[in-house]
Amino acid sequence: MRIISSVCEMAAAALQHKRQGVTTALVPTMGFFHAGHIALMKKAKTISEQVVVSLFVNPTQFGPQEDLSKYPRDLQRDTRMAEEAGVDILFTPSAEELYAKDFSTWVNVEGLSEHLCGQSRPGHFRGVATVVAKLFGIVQPDKAVFGQKDFQQLAIIRRMVRDLNMPVEIVAHETVREPDGLAMSSRNTYLSKEERREAVCLYEALCAARAALTQKDISLIDLKKAVLTPISARTLARVDYVFIGDPSTLQPYDEQGFQRAKEVLVALAVWIGKTRLIDNMHIIKGH
Ligand code: PAJ
Repeated sequence: MRIISSVCEMAAAALQHKRQGVTTALVPTMGFFHAGHIALMKKAKTISEQVVVSLFVNPTQFGPQEDLSKYPRDLQRDTRMAEEAGVDILFTPSAEELYAKDFSTWVNVEGLSEHLCGQSRPGHFRGVATVVAKLFGIVQPDKAVFGQKDFQQLAIIRRMVRDLNMPVEIVAHETVREPDGLAMSSRNTYLSKEERREAVCLYEALCAARAALTQKDISLIDLKKAVLTPISARTLARVDYVFIGDPSTLQPYDEQGFQRAKEVLVALAVWIGKTRLIDNMHIIKGH
């Protein structure tokens, strides 16, 4: 595996591969790999001849009060894990090189960024869309793989690619979970033992939603109650948001819209102590 930290070197390697007709899949990450990241890398391997993984803790997607400085990092461990997963190039640019001092161009995906994490993390998706657009520009991938765990992020990237005519196929990968259902996340490492036990309430809440949605004619209020019950039962958990809405527009349902809908996205952000975790389930009604 080649490790490239220079933007110019990465762009030159990408151009060379393009000329040789080698297809490339990119997996953008912020590192501190877990089984979710590895699954994306392995998926990338099956859909292209070459896999590039970017590892960059992107400062522009963190708010001033957020965990940028303490975000977990371990380049040695990540390098080993990426190599084992069959990655061809690990791209590790520095913030200084990626963002010029007078950097002033941003990608804003409107509408889809309005609710869910867009509300609790203002500016977050502008940072995500901008860095992903930059990575696409440097790496010039044919395909890019993203996890459904970040459902809103995936929707925003798909929209950006469509709206800006970027020649990249976006490939989704299902959420990889711990045996008890907790979605894998680099932020899970922040949890104490007791918090880790309580963190399973996000998955319990989503399973409760799925069970509730098998009932015909359930009301939006009762569905919301079913989602909140497993979270309220935990002492260290505090809800940031519960979103029940349209999986394609990411707009919340009102009672009427909910009754008519065939598909429901239930998405959550929950504080477990000082750690904010997210998860979601895309549910087809009656299944
Ligand atoms: P990061 O949180 O490191 O996630 C990198 C990729 O792994 C994303 O596509 C994310 O959806 C996926 N992922 C994370 N946990 C997963 C899980 N449990 N199952 C499946 N996929 C999972 O998301 C980011 O980084 C950044 O916002 C980024 C896109 C790299 C832009 O900076």
